[in-house]
Amino acid sequence: MKVLAVGGGGREHAAVEALFRSGSEIYAVMKNANPGIIARSKEHLLCDEKDVERVCAFAVEKGVDLAFVGPEAPLEVGLVDALEARGIKCASPTKDAARIETSKTFMRELVERHGIEGNLGFAHFDNAADAEAYLRTIDHEIVVKPVGLTGGKGVKVQGEHLHSFEETMEYVNEIFDQNIGGAGVILEEKAVGEEFTQMVFVDGKHIVPLPLVQDHKRAYEGDVGPNTGGMGSYTDSDHLLPFINQSERREALAILQSIVDAMAAEGCPYRGTMYGQFMLTVKGPKIIEINARFGDPEAMNVLSILEDSFEAVCFRMATGSLEGDVRFSKKATVCKYVVPRGYGVKSESGHEISVDEDSIRDCGAVAYYANVDMKDGKLVTGTSRSVGVVGMGASLEEAEQNCEKALHFVKCDAISVRHDIGTRELVQRRVDHMRGLRSA
Ligand code: AMP
Ligand code: GLY
Repeated sequence: MKVLAVGGGGREHAAVEALFRSGSEIYAVMKNANPGIIARSKEHLLCDEKDVERVCAFAVEKGVDLAFVGPEAPLEVGLVDALEARGIKCASPTKDAARIETSKTFMRELVERHGIEGNLGFAHFDNAADAEAYLRTIDHEIVVKPVGLTGGKGVKVQGEHLHSFEETMEYVNEIFDQNIGGAGVILEEKAVGEEFTQMVFVDGKHIVPLPLVQDHKRAYEGDVGPNTGGMGSYTDSDHLLPFINQSERREALAILQSIVDAMAAEGCPYRGTMYGQFMLTVKGPKIIEINARFGDPEAMNVLSILEDSFEAVCFRMATGSLEGDVRFSKKATVCKYVVPRGYGVKSESGHEISVDEDSIRDCGAVAYYANVDMKDGKLVTGTSRSVGVVGMGASLEEAEQNCEKALHFVKCDAISVRHDIGTRELVQRRVDHMRGLRSA
């Protein structure tokens, strides 16, 4: 099948690689020249992924049958609606359905309206004075979130990033003054526990679960520093995580199914991959955010072990015929993102970077190019994450070691990596943390 793939990051490289394995003829659109995607594409167009007219013209000219849109920004401007209007089937949500991610208020209110489990207390403000008045009335810790899209970097948590009433108000004022996210502020109850990602494939009605993943949002080792888009992630060979049980996972899946049902009932059925980010608390999984796409880096973990044809899965999502299983191999994966030095605060970009793909494969790993670009014939880093390296193995330990071995074959003089991701010590800390909360 001729497939349009939109986006130039690590998540999209992983999707393109999976489509290529399925035998798709790939037509790619991205803003940066991602060499991994280009190598697998029959043709590619470098342009703004939000330029709906150009992307549609390219898709129509090439006669594509099916489209996969990776990032949230083109979803928010209605790329899927425009492609569908031209008769192209899409394995990604329409603009209305993507509100589940593009408006945190829409998501919280939908969950509340339908009495779905897992919601957190929240309040939406369109000015700082009202937010301040509310803050004076509450006696628990909160999280400050810009309502609109911020690339995963706009959230600040009391007790971690914000240590007083004054610091909290300073950030609220900053969001309004600088119009961060562009749609106001949400103050949300802080949930305490361990985070996990449950993604599902959705065809408007049915959901099919993907393996559980744990991402690491904080920029620095030991889970400190600013929030980022995600520094790395792991999956275990049983597709669970060491601190969560089957029944808790089923609760998370029931929440996602209820959201899918609610969206269908409200006339904006959801098709595509849905990303549920949860905090496992002693009172069960609580919703941190829902995204209208694969997680990045999480996509790299799960797509690396997808056994079925990704093209067929996309077709099933696009045509409402998803029922049945999707198979993933029983392997553990550890993904560590190579990022430009300073990422999360101020990235140093434009440095030459090299990736020895063959040697990485010999280590039992795979590399996915992300925010890199070609300049004067050289591969250089951008301001966002550069290359995702995924180690695979029969156990988490083996996957982590393979990832570390492979990382030696990514060379650049201005990068950093969170080496602690997927290590026995860090995973054990998470297990102990959850056990401590349960027994308190
Ligand atoms: P988000 O961009 O919504 O995924 O938030 C980034 C990070 O902030 C999450 O990965 C959590 O670590 C943290 N966070 C967001 N919302 C909450 C919440 N309600 N309670 C506790 N932590 C949160
Ligand atoms: N890994 C977090 C996200 O994709 O939003």
